[in-house]
Amino acid sequence: MKMKILAVANPKGGIGKTAFSVNTVHAAVEQDSPTLRIDFDKQGSFSLAHPHGPDYDPSKRYLKASDLFYAPEKSADAELEYLAPGQAIIRADYDELLKLEKAPDDFAKHPGRYLRQFSDKFEVAVIDTPGTINMLLKAALTCADAVVSPLTLGLYDTAGLAQLWQIIRDVKSGGFNPKLRMIGMLPSKVDTRDKMAMAELDALRKHPKFGPAILPFMLAQKVPVARAINLRKPVWKGAKSKSHREAGEQWKQACDHVLTSLGSK
Ligand SMILES: Nc1ncnc2c1ncn2[C@@H]1O[C@H](COP(=O)(O)OP(=O)(O)OP(=O)(O)O)[C@@H](O)[C@H]1O
Ligand SMILES: [Mg+2]
Repeated sequence: MKMKILAVANPKGGIGKTAFSVNTVHAAVEQDSPTLRIDFDKQGSFSLAHPHGPDYDPSKRYLKASDLFYAPEKSADAELEYLAPGQAIIRADYDELLKLEKAPDDFAKHPGRYLRQFSDKFEVAVIDTPGTINMLLKAALTCADAVVSPLTLGLYDTAGLAQLWQIIRDVKSGGFNPKLRMIGMLPSKVDTRDKMAMAELDALRKHPKFGPAILPFMLAQKVPVARAINLRKPVWKGAKSKSHREAGEQWKQACDHVLTSLGSK
């Protein structure tokens, strides 16, 4: 096993990064891939999506996201939190991540070194990142093999795209992670009933710079999706309506594509 690390990233907030991280993990579990979840967002939504497993012991010290920024010796007394066999999580710890946001950029290089020790235990690691530009986002991109970026349409969102592009370029050319691979950008929370939004998506797909990076999938904005997220279920499970079934197919295809492209198997 050689763990492949996926960062789900876009510095724009509220565009579906955590929802996509969670469902990609569901898809990896369905493929029987031992999967490590890492939450680099101090809001802790990705952590919240995963309740403790049956073996959770509140008296134990579990590895937290901030631990990855220091030498492994410092957290020698901490262990990985397993949710089920082969399924683990490194949760966000608000106070420590808040401090780390202001740490020098060089700190971004630490998690990659730390995570190497888990390389034989997992096939996939999914890192959920904050919806803002900070050292933690840079750290996720620095330790990742590949990045996928959900993106929304609109004036402000497209401006954010240029920022995302810039950060990825900085990470690749600034000596942080020259091998970082962009799997692609994934149109997310698309209102398919809005003709203008659909035209905008068409135009973006034809954009000379960004177009080739837009994945041939789309995650429509739908009530059953929000519900599935709240119920901590894969979007594609338990669909009773046509709309939910369609959404399920969209999400499953997109998640499976990203895992295949990550090359974890
Ligand atoms: N396709 C969708 N249809 C309906 N609701 C969605 C969809 N995708 C995400 N949501 C909802 O939108 C909200 C924001 O999603 P999410 O938290 O995944 O975004 P985020 O990019 O991780 O945000 P942040 O930048 O704050 O971390 C959530 O309430 C989620 O349930
Ligand atoms: Mg999030």
